[in-house]
Amino acid sequence: DAQRADPRPAYHYGPKRNWMNDPNGLVYFEGEYHLFYQYNPHGDRWGHMSWGHAVSRDLVTWEELPVAIPETADVMAFSGSAVIDWKNSSGFGRDGRPPMIAIYTGHNPKAKLQSQYLAYSNDRGRTWTVHGEVLSVGSSEFRDPKVFWHEPTRSWVMIAVMAVENRAVIFTSSDLKQWRYASSFGPAGARGKNWECPDLNLLPVEGGAPGEQRWVLSINLGDQAVGGGSGGQYFVGDFDGRRFTPVDAWGGEPVWTDYGADFYAAVAWNDLPKDDPRRIWIGWANDWRYAEAIPTWPSRGIMTVPRSISLRKTAQGYRMTQRPVRELERLRSKVPISRQLSLRDEPLALPVEGGAVDLTANLALGQSEQVTLTLSDGEGYQMVIGVNPAVNEVFIDRSRAGPHFHDGFENRHVAPVDLRQGKVSLRLLVDESIVELFINDGEQTITDRFFRGSGPLRWSASARGGAATMDVTAWSIRPGVRH
Ligand code: FRU
Repeated sequence: DAQRADPRPAYHYGPKRNWMNDPNGLVYFEGEYHLFYQYNPHGDRWGHMSWGHAVSRDLVTWEELPVAIPETADVMAFSGSAVIDWKNSSGFGRDGRPPMIAIYTGHNPKAKLQSQYLAYSNDRGRTWTVHGEVLSVGSSEFRDPKVFWHEPTRSWVMIAVMAVENRAVIFTSSDLKQWRYASSFGPAGARGKNWECPDLNLLPVEGGAPGEQRWVLSINLGDQAVGGGSGGQYFVGDFDGRRFTPVDAWGGEPVWTDYGADFYAAVAWNDLPKDDPRRIWIGWANDWRYAEAIPTWPSRGIMTVPRSISLRKTAQGYRMTQRPVRELERLRSKVPISRQLSLRDEPLALPVEGGAVDLTANLALGQSEQVTLTLSDGEGYQMVIGVNPAVNEVFIDRSRAGPHFHDGFENRHVAPVDLRQGKVSLRLLVDESIVELFINDGEQTITDRFFRGSGPLRWSASARGGAATMDVTAWSIRPGVRH
């Protein structure tokens, strides 16, 4: 069938062509945010895994660079992380400048082995030298090392997974080359065929005691996550440099990072500038169920917008909050449209222009049974974002969100949200073929792709069973990705 180039997202990063999955090696150095990622330089399906590379000076405008770490004859470069070795503990620095070090999984299918490799760069991530394997436990399912510096113990920490055992494993090192086993966590919470792409981040607690912080261990599941596909769960606790201990007794009910289908393998940046207290992560906007089948061309795979993450104390315990990085506001049009709407059954058109939009809707639900915001194209396909007060849920329904391409795609995704006060705030980042929905200032998120037909996107809103009011403000967003 004739392949049609899809309407390219304007401000969500994707490579110019070919396949992309997980974000890798997120690190900031000398004014640049680096985004490496799982990349197939030779095709638009998974294979030949190598580290692709993009850089940004502001987290929202991205420039693609040549492949950073290619596969070799025997070993693919799977997911991993990068650090700046400020003290040159590894000895790979040059001329008094610290090296950028990548620690990633070498996947050797012939030897049935996954082990951790080290590569270094002395030129701001442009060219890399593979030093070789630094940690093997003789397993074929040991992967996705996230490495970071732990100041209280003055050592390097690695968290990786024994994927099939559903275990996260922690190692420590003083030089990034020799690693010692420290502890193991799991199985816990949600189990699946694989645990993948773990991360461990110290996050501020909003509204907690002054300076209160907690560690968050995030783990991705290749399948059987929220909604049945791939997704992420997290645990909140303490970390002493060797062992992670959850705070609450986690009764087994998993807590998800996102309630949509398309948020996977999120990991956080290392080495953000000293004067920036944020933790920022980014996810792959896809689901392994249908990732290789999504109808886009000439590239397959995009990232979410970078999100700053923190914790909030709730009646259920600590919960993560996620917000789009504030730098995104620089790409907004100068003048937003703003309206106060009173909604009824008859859909009201919203005067929102274009497919790249940042929209905030504050809803007073009144006596309505359901409030919806609908995005539709010229062919009758639609994406429905809705609120159901009686059952305390916010949802995205994409059962008619484009031509059929995979059974696992046409579904509805629900986030539990307390609506008993009769109000909710929604922030929608829409970008041609993706919606990132942030509910109540980042308390919950739903991230879903859609694949529309031709014609401009039109927006409308309505309320069923009783009136509701909506204060809406929308900006169009300028392109952030250079192609
Ligand atoms: C997660 C993952 C990782 C692995 C990589 C291979 O999506 O399966 O566990 O390192 O992708 O591309």
